[in-house]
Amino acid sequence: MSDTAAPRHPMRVFSGVQPSGGLTLGNYLGALRRFVEMQDRGVDSLFCLVDLHAITVWQDPAKLRHATRELAAGFLAAGIDPARSILFNQSQVAAHAELAWIFNCVARMGWLNRMTQFKDKAGKNRENASVGLFAYPALMAADILAYHATHVPVGEDQKQHLELTRDIAIKFNHDYGVDFFPVVEPVIEGVATRVMSLRDGTRKMSKSDASDMSRINLTDDADTIAQKFRKARTDPEPLPETPAGLEGRAEARNLVNIYAALSDTSTEAVLAEFAGQGFGAFKPKLADLAVATLAPLSAEMTRLMADPAEIDRLLGDGADRADALAQPVMAQVCEIVGMIRSRPAR
Ligand code: AMP
Ligand code: TRP
Repeated sequence: MSDTAAPRHPMRVFSGVQPSGGLTLGNYLGALRRFVEMQDRGVDSLFCLVDLHAITVWQDPAKLRHATRELAAGFLAAGIDPARSILFNQSQVAAHAELAWIFNCVARMGWLNRMTQFKDKAGKNRENASVGLFAYPALMAADILAYHATHVPVGEDQKQHLELTRDIAIKFNHDYGVDFFPVVEPVIEGVATRVMSLRDGTRKMSKSDASDMSRINLTDDADTIAQKFRKARTDPEPLPETPAGLEGRAEARNLVNIYAALSDTSTEAVLAEFAGQGFGAFKPKLADLAVATLAPLSAEMTRLMADPAEIDRLLGDGADRADALAQPVMAQVCEIVGMIRSRPAR
């Protein structure tokens, strides 16, 4: 991770995850685990459950509430410490929606029109997509910039959104003749920046995939995890000696990368251990490793979910601290833009 971004701004990490269903192994390896690493390195960090993003597509209210608490439990179980990091949900801090509106007026239709995630999510029926789904990346820019965050750890799929965040910061600074918002640095690192579906090595593992067999959920039990890996699509060839031998073998590469990420080693090291072996031998080892990592995590999530009031208390505390950081930034934004914010005593 480079610290070269915006030297004027102290390093601060921000990232968000949508409470739009359960967490997958992709979220865990591509996001949560890396958030914990940053926190443990002592970096000032905010982690946000982005419920305003989730409702850009329909969410059943009771399920949204449950998924938000479950996601908080996932962060805590993965090792996010609410005393060291700020963990909160987006809708509790008004600055996100306020700044998003201002950024809606900075971002250009043409920029948003190019977003591949919008095209994927809206599908063929664009006329029926919500306006929020289209404006989604401006809200994401607001999430980050409301705290003058400088570094954003995400999976590969978010790269284009972060480029848009940079464009919004640059245009805002330019249009108003200020050097106010940092130009953020995406942090897309490690072997698990794009964990793929277990059924199709060309698609990312996703909580919204219609097939549950395509993903490992953090709440899956040991038998389910073993079964999903056993049935995962592969090819009949044995594992090669070097990563070059995984060329054109998307499914094989995915399983090797998952193994490497779970055991905190490199693709090379995994191949050095398993070269020449077939998937019949490799898959059970992978399943055992996944179970060993995920079982304690899901047990801890179940324990935390038994006390939703405590989760709400932690989230409320996080929101107070996030709010205290965002308010002075919003006051300056209003000043820069020319909005009268103060309400003198009448
Ligand atoms: P989402 O669940 O879409 O809100 O994503 C939350 C975080 O997890 C983002 O940083 C994503 O880039 C990351 N992520 C989601 N799916 C994957 C995946 N299959 N592989 C790696 N990272 C992922
Ligand atoms: N769009 C991200 C995703 O779906 C979630 C997100 C919202 C986010 N706001 C963010 C990620 C700010 C990083 C920073 O994965």
